[in-house]
Amino acid sequence: MTDRYAVIGNPIAQSKSPLIHGMFAQATGQDIEYGKIEGPLGGFAAAVDAFRAAGGKGLNVTAPFKLDAFAYATERSERAQLAGAVNALKFEGDRVIAENFDGVGLTRDVVQNLGCPLAGRRVLMLGAGGATRGALLPFLEQQPELLVIANRTVEKAQALAGEMAGKGPIRGGGYADLAGQQFDVVFNATSASLRAELPPVPATVFAPGCLAYELAYGKGLTPFLRLAQNAGVQHLADGVGMLAEQAAEAFLWWRGVRPDTRAVIDKLTVPLV
Ligand code: ATR
Repeated sequence: MTDRYAVIGNPIAQSKSPLIHGMFAQATGQDIEYGKIEGPLGGFAAAVDAFRAAGGKGLNVTAPFKLDAFAYATERSERAQLAGAVNALKFEGDRVIAENFDGVGLTRDVVQNLGCPLAGRRVLMLGAGGATRGALLPFLEQQPELLVIANRTVEKAQALAGEMAGKGPIRGGGYADLAGQQFDVVFNATSASLRAELPPVPATVFAPGCLAYELAYGKGLTPFLRLAQNAGVQHLADGVGMLAEQAAEAFLWWRGVRPDTRAVIDKLTVPLV
């Protein structure tokens, strides 16, 4: 019997997940159907109940339901707990198992696909929202020399760093604290790029040979990537690989088979111009 999966969000028309999982299923010979659900605002639990009642086996969860999914779950992985948000669910009878693959997907993209190790490197994360929260544990597991979170609202960065302090070398602060510091990998996890805005990061943060990574996907050369380029950074990337890798992690978790992501990344890449 064909197993059913879907992505749930609102809005949902823009989601690439059905395309990605369709390509994975075809490449791995898995017999699945993967759809889209526009969950009504305030109606997440009822929509998921209905999907499970119809035999649904798992869901990807996107905005604005990542916290609803966290609350709906009966079991949460450590990374979902530390992220405080859930982007994938698996249903097994009465059990609702929750995961968050955004951070591992990002880490895998950087380390494996882009060939940029985080181990022993100085890493800077701009922003202290949900995207940053999900990435901190997977980053620290790579054993960087230092992980710095910089945020407009300084207290949020400090609080996040405080929460993770036992897991590795992490510091939180404001953009002004970055003066005179350089990093080997700089991530923009703020939502500024969605409005074509630039976080107030000094152009001096990029160390020679640095990778500048924009977590947003498909926005071309965002103000952050342009800043990096103008500062001489040659290695620029956006979140297309993160999108593909978090999907691959979910697919592996559901189906026991890891799909190759190259074809998906090639298909979805939007040139950085
Ligand atoms: P997400 O879940 O995508 O991480 P979020 O939780 O709403 O989104 O967090 C958005 C992040 O982008 C925050 O860190 C926010 O900074 P504040 O905590 O100070 O609000 C940051 N952000 C949004 N617009 C920004 C801008 N123009 N400049 C700098 N930071 C910005």
